[in-house]
Amino acid sequence: MLNFKEIFTAQLASVVDGQMSEEVIAALIEIPKNPEHGDLAFPCFTLAKACRKSPAAIAVDIASQIRAPLIEKAEAAGPYINVFFSKAAAGKIIMERILKEGKEYGKLTIGAGKTVVLDFSSPNIAKPFSMGHLRSTVIGNALGNLADRCGYQTVRINHLGDWGTQFGKLITAYKKWGNQDRVKENPIRELLSLYIRFHDEVEENPGLENEARYWFKELENGNEEAASLWGWFREESLKEFERIYDMLGIKFDSYNGEAFYNNKMEAIIEELSAKNLLVMSDGAEVVQLPDQDLPPCLIKKSDGATLYATRDLAAAFYRKKKYHFDQSLYIVGQEQSIHFRQVKSVIKTLGYEWADHMVHVPFGLYMKDGKKMSTRKGRVILLEEVLNEAILLAKQNIEDKNPHLENKKDIAEAVGIGAILFHDLKNDRMNNIEFSLEDMLTFEGETGPYLQYTNARAYSLLRKAEDGPSPSGLSDSHSWEIIKLLHQYPDKLKQAYQHLSPSVLAKYLIDVAQAFNKYYGQVRILEKDTDIKGRLALVKAVTIVLSEGMQTLGMRVPEQM
Ligand code: ARG
Repeated sequence: MLNFKEIFTAQLASVVDGQMSEEVIAALIEIPKNPEHGDLAFPCFTLAKACRKSPAAIAVDIASQIRAPLIEKAEAAGPYINVFFSKAAAGKIIMERILKEGKEYGKLTIGAGKTVVLDFSSPNIAKPFSMGHLRSTVIGNALGNLADRCGYQTVRINHLGDWGTQFGKLITAYKKWGNQDRVKENPIRELLSLYIRFHDEVEENPGLENEARYWFKELENGNEEAASLWGWFREESLKEFERIYDMLGIKFDSYNGEAFYNNKMEAIIEELSAKNLLVMSDGAEVVQLPDQDLPPCLIKKSDGATLYATRDLAAAFYRKKKYHFDQSLYIVGQEQSIHFRQVKSVIKTLGYEWADHMVHVPFGLYMKDGKKMSTRKGRVILLEEVLNEAILLAKQNIEDKNPHLENKKDIAEAVGIGAILFHDLKNDRMNNIEFSLEDMLTFEGETGPYLQYTNARAYSLLRKAEDGPSPSGLSDSHSWEIIKLLHQYPDKLKQAYQHLSPSVLAKYLIDVAQAFNKYYGQVRILEKDTDIKGRLALVKAVTIVLSEGMQTLGMRVPEQM
């Protein structure tokens, strides 16, 4: 398999003959910003220190000794050695590989034999799917896809928030003011308004709190009426969530939420107690974590009730035992970072080193006009409405640009939803994101529709061409810029996964699309000359990388737009 960086690294290693390891060399190699300075460059400062010569003198010396089949020339430029690969020969090999591998291009084996568990989305039952859950869903799904491409076995878990004292409140409210048909018709909205009503009425009538506590206790004790109401609320909510996941094209391997761990906490509480780690504090049982500079982790309340953290502890043990994970990711907003540090620390304190493989993957917030976007009292921002609005705008866009397009409805869905996904993923995970449907949906700039549109344009060239693609030695610098980018794809997938940053891939895809659009403007791709098949091979390779890349992010890829 051809890899520019590996070729250059191996050459340098043999020339410096043991003075520097391949690893160190590889880490120093750069990609010059200006293509005139070569395809890759190596700075000689470190080497110069070791040899007590000037970096420039060393650069001249080494450059003169570099000789490898695909390297056309190596030249010294001050302290740097710049290498140029032979465009025609290397380009042909790269194109051949991409066309031959097709959808498999970019797949890696770094994760072979290893398992990654991803806990993401995880909304709370009977509450609206918030924008924070949207971020978790989108980022978690992209990370899962990246892990798949890297060869890991993946397990996607939706740790539903389906347990807790709020269900006592909800049951109380439903029994007093609820109506079955209304819940069926619009479950989340209706359950939420019952919940809000409970909080309004409790101000006048504090006794309601006792009733709620009573009903939660009953639920925990397995009271039939309470259990069946809870089961029904869960089921109706899940139906609504699944509609959203279908729109987003997302699937989970498990919907084991908090309630699933009800009978799995006792073992851990016993182990904590046997190891003398449980301490009484204000009537509650806690694990003290002073060494980690963390507040105590609450395990059991004074009334015996367990907590969010207790359930996460049970879940971690369960997942370790069931999936034997090598890495367990929690894609959850940064406001929960103390919680995850506590859970990890408790497991570590119990003596389990695998706690180090639990990674909290936090992210920033959605903002609207500079303010946190959230579920305001009374006026809930329902995700489904946002998605539908995006689809509608995409549809209008298509009507303006290409009214005769077939499958308009399907394509509008792919574009509208792709726009939202991409807008989220192109941002560095920790940044806050300004929510603006108009910005997300433009066909220009760094957007999902821009990528989809560029890809569709490449597909349309392939449809129009009378010739089939066949890799050949293109030696012009326009083609070369794209070839070099396409060559980086496997490495970008790896980087994106290793940094748990889908934005690495998202930004790379924008680079590819921009390079292709530039090419499209500069080169007459369908001109019937000797290179036409080679150019079509390049176009085809672009569609392979763009399509595969967008799908890895979770987007759909229309071939026509
Ligand atoms: N349901 C929680 C919330 O909405 C998120 C759960 C995240 N996962 C976990 N294992 N704690 O805040």
